[in-house]
Amino acid sequence: MLRLALTKGRLEQKTVERLAASGIDISPLQEKGRKLIVRLGEEYEVVFAKAADVVTYVEHGSADVGVVGKDTLLEMGRSVYELLDLGFGKCRFAVAALKGYDPYAGYGVKTVATKYPTVARRFFESKNMDVEIVKIEGSVELAPILRLADAIVDIVETGTTLKENGLEVVETVADISARLIVNVASFKLNKQEVELLASRLNGAKEGVKTDGGI
Ligand code: PRP
Repeated sequence: MLRLALTKGRLEQKTVERLAASGIDISPLQEKGRKLIVRLGEEYEVVFAKAADVVTYVEHGSADVGVVGKDTLLEMGRSVYELLDLGFGKCRFAVAALKGYDPYAGYGVKTVATKYPTVARRFFESKNMDVEIVKIEGSVELAPILRLADAIVDIVETGTTLKENGLEVVETVADISARLIVNVASFKLNKQEVELLASRLNGAKEGVKTDGGI
């Protein structure tokens, strides 16, 4: 039996759809109510958690595998195997600023607001730019409007939030999508089961009918 940790919220519906398309009977999930642990037949047990907690549970082996966004993996930088790009939950990390403003112009140290300080720090280090990072918990787009920051590093999906608030993308930092992650020890111990699950999920992604074989 494999324990799967799934991310609640934005990725939840697409994840469940992919499980169903992989031939896994997801009917117990439709009747789960407020239950946090749900068994799917003989093979899988599913838990729902916040993205960062999914990574923590998988890293510690409390869950064998997980489904989580690449954004969380990049920010947390934990030691789990990333087995598969599931291809949904697509968006990107981008540097954005007020429309028409070039945050790279001039010599002073610029201030960057973000919910993802590790991702932002790494990105600007790779550009040899000395910036001050300010951690914000949500609605990061407010920071340049309120003159707290010269730029932001944030997730852009449709671009609507930026547009409606007079901001624009300056540069893409990284592409994001949902990933299948695996606990390092569990991958060795349960290699066949984990690879079977990955193959089912991947087969469903390509729209290829899979009998679960590898
Ligand atoms: C995310 C992100 C942007 C928005 C981007 O916020 O931080 O604000 O979605 O989506 P868009 O490009 O389609 O407009 P989220 O809704 O996760 O909440 P937050 O305000 O807590 O960051």
